[in-house]
Amino acid sequence: MTKRVAILISGGGSNMVRLVDSMTGDYPARPCLVLANDPGAGGLEKAAARDVPTAVVDHRPFGADRAGFEAELTRVLAAHAPDIICLAGFMRVLTPDFVTRWQGRMLNIHPSLLPKYPGLHTHARALEAGDAEAGCSVHEVTAELDGGPILGQARVQVLPGDTADSLAARVLVQEHRLYPLVLRRFAAGDGGRIDL
Ligand code: GAR
Repeated sequence: MTKRVAILISGGGSNMVRLVDSMTGDYPARPCLVLANDPGAGGLEKAAARDVPTAVVDHRPFGADRAGFEAELTRVLAAHAPDIICLAGFMRVLTPDFVTRWQGRMLNIHPSLLPKYPGLHTHARALEAGDAEAGCSVHEVTAELDGGPILGQARVQVLPGDTADSLAARVLVQEHRLYPLVLRRFAAGDGGRIDL
């Protein structure tokens, strides 16, 4: 059965674009919604240009009321009936309640070789640590921040003279390869792990 995928973004949505563009032909999933928590997220226009329904649930009016924000998120998601949620540069931390509801059906891409560097500033932290390699991970989302089972990773070498920006740009190229491959397997119900 073809799976319906909702993609949650906060910014430019380059990973979202790769996911949407990969979901054709015999790919076992199709995008049903691109949702942003910021009305200014550049990815919204890119999704609309691809005829994918879009929605915004702005987190700001909710202030510290995370449960209220997530109730609205849940309401909008329910209207599109996704089987799978892909977080793709979605920069809001989700509560255990929300995560538990979607556990086993929600993926995230993170710009580090988890379990190294959960959270923010991953590339700067890898450089500071003098790591010889960096990369990205796609994992199932659990209540532990960036801590769920890893479904795939892609590695890049750290080069002499790398800055956080130059490293981020090279890792992003690998994110674009990795996420569609992992989602394809996941949507097909194949639990195997992908290493690039
Ligand atoms: C990506 O590098 C993604 O891995 C990262 O944000 C970027 C979004 O770019 N996500 C996180 O840091 C999540 N903690 P995009 O909007 O162009 O896909």
